[in-house]
Order: sequence, then C-alpha cells, then structure tokens
Amino acid sequence: MSLAVSLSKLCFFVCSSLVYLCTAQDAEIGGGSIFSGGVLGESGVAPTTTPEPPPTEYIVYDGQSMPCVLVRMNMKLIIEPKRTGNKKITISVPKSAVSKGSCGSGEDSKMTLTWGTFKFAWHFQKSRVSDAYYVDDIQLSYNTSDKAFGNATQDYAGQFQQVHSADPLTLFLTPIGRSYTCNMAKDVKLYDDKRAARVTVRLTRFQIQPFAAMTHRQYGDAFKCSEEAGRKDETVPLVVGSVLALAVLGTIGGYGGYRYVKVKKIEYDTME
Ligand SMILES: *[C@@H]1O[C@H](CO)[C@@H](O)[C@H](O)[C@H]1NC(C)=O
Ligand SMILES: *[C@@H]1O[C@H](CO)[C@@H](O)[C@H](O)[C@H]1NC(C)=O
Repeated sequence: MSLAVSLSKLCFFVCSSLVYLCTAQDAEIGGGSIFSGGVLGESGVAPTTTPEPPPTEYIVYDGQSMPCVLVRMNMKLIIEPKRTGNKKITISVPKSAVSKGSCGSGEDSKMTLTWGTFKFAWHFQKSRVSDAYYVDDIQLSYNTSDKAFGNATQDYAGQFQQVHSADPLTLFLTPIGRSYTCNMAKDVKLYDDKRAARVTVRLTRFQIQPFAAMTHRQYGDAFKCSEEAGRKDETVPLVVGSVLALAVLGTIGGYGGYRYVKVKKIEYDTME
C-alpha cells in the first residue's frame, strides 16, 4: 500500500518536473517576447478603438527585380530613450519609409526600412532542423535629434541610439511556404547594450512572407497567429526544441564514439 503511494508520489514529482522543463524550454526557445506579449499593450490596457489605417506594403527585390520578402503591416515604435524618467514617445513608421534588403542565398533574408534618421532591420532565417522560418534578429537605430521626436528628446538631443532584440529570438515561427498573419497587436522589445534605451515595436494587421520565391512571389496561405487560430504556440517551438536536443545528443554521442575509436586506435598504434 505505502509502496503504491510512494510510487504515485514519485510519478507526480517526475511528471511535474517534466512539465516544468518543457515549459521552461519553450519559454527560452520561443524567445517569449511575442508569443506571450501583445494582445493587450504593455500597460495591460486593451487597444483603443480608433480605426486602424490600412497596412502599408514593403517589398525587397532580388537582382532580377523579383520580390523575395513581402510584408504588409502597420508598425509603431514606442520609444523610451533614457533609463529612467521617460515619457514614452510613439513614432508611426511612415508610408514613405524606403524598403531595401538582401534576398540571401535562400537560407536567410533581410528587410531594412529607412526614414529620416531611422533605420529598422529584421532578419528572416530558415530553420536548420524543421521546415519553418522565423525572425531571429531585429535592429533599430535613430538619432534623438530626428524631427519625428519634436521637442520630446531635447534634454539628450544629438545622440545616436541603437537597440536590438534579445538573444535568441524565434519570432513568428511559420511553416515554409506560408505567410505569418495577425490582425492583433504584437509587441517585440528592443534594448540597447547598456539596457538604458528601450523600444517596443508594435505590429498590427500584418502579414509577412519571406522566401517568396517558394510561393510564386505572392503571400502563401495564411498561418494565423496563435490568438486568432486558437492554437497553442508551444507546440512548434517544443518540436524544434526536441529536435535540437536530439541533434545535440547525437553530436555528443557521435563525438564520444569518435574519441573512443580514436583513443583505441592510438592505443593500438602505440602498442605496435
Ligand atoms: C514642446 O512642444 C509643445 C508643442 O509642440 C509645447 O506645448 C511644449 O510646451 C513643448 N515642451 C517643451 C518642454 O518645450
Ligand atoms: C544627430 O543629429 C544632429 C542634428 O542633425 C547632429 O548634430 C548629430 O551629429 C547627430 N548625431 C550623430 C551621432 O550622428
């Protein structure tokens, strides 16, 4: 009887540890920033009901003038340029922002938007372990004297600030050939190296299609964000995580085997 109780206790302990491990791993691999953020703004208030302008389309073309990255979105930057005592400054990316970038070798691509002194760049990466792509890096720089700030930054004018996403980022993980689509607000946080300046990138009504060569230069079938699809986003990162773990184990195992054989060979050679 007491054995059964101990066994069930043990099982409970093991199971909850497993669940904990899986959740922790997901939070780490998923970057946590977007999948958990978003719907409610960072203040926890529901978005206001003022009608959104229609999204703007930005495109990156390859050397043959064929699009390789297609993005439709409304993007705002909520900037806190100092460590403390900030008034949040909201900048809407203008329709006139110029999009450029690189189509890469088909394994990655990049889109850069520039306007005034602002430069926003995001990098799209194909997964090495599963048939998916994601955003793995976002960078933003600006001069605090940019006229978009008005007089809001007059105490620290003329500074060049550079912020980037936290490492590692696995944002908008999407099956290859489909376009990540979301009508809700999604937030991504960017920081500078001293963690003094912070910027929240807020995307609304957006659709992204990197590697557009695979979808005949159009948006592939929509892959809706988890909130809209009623999907739990943990599954995809978890699968990627498990594959990664297996790959690491495989590598370690392989190396161990190699060492074993090599050591044996050296032993054998020196015995000769
Ligand atoms: C900044 O400009 C606004 C109007 O554009 C003005 O109302 C405000 O007083 C100014 N703030 C400072 C600190 O000069
Ligand atoms: C930022 O802009 C101001 C005004 O145009 C300029 O004087 C300053 O040199 C710029 N700062 C940097 C670091 O580029």
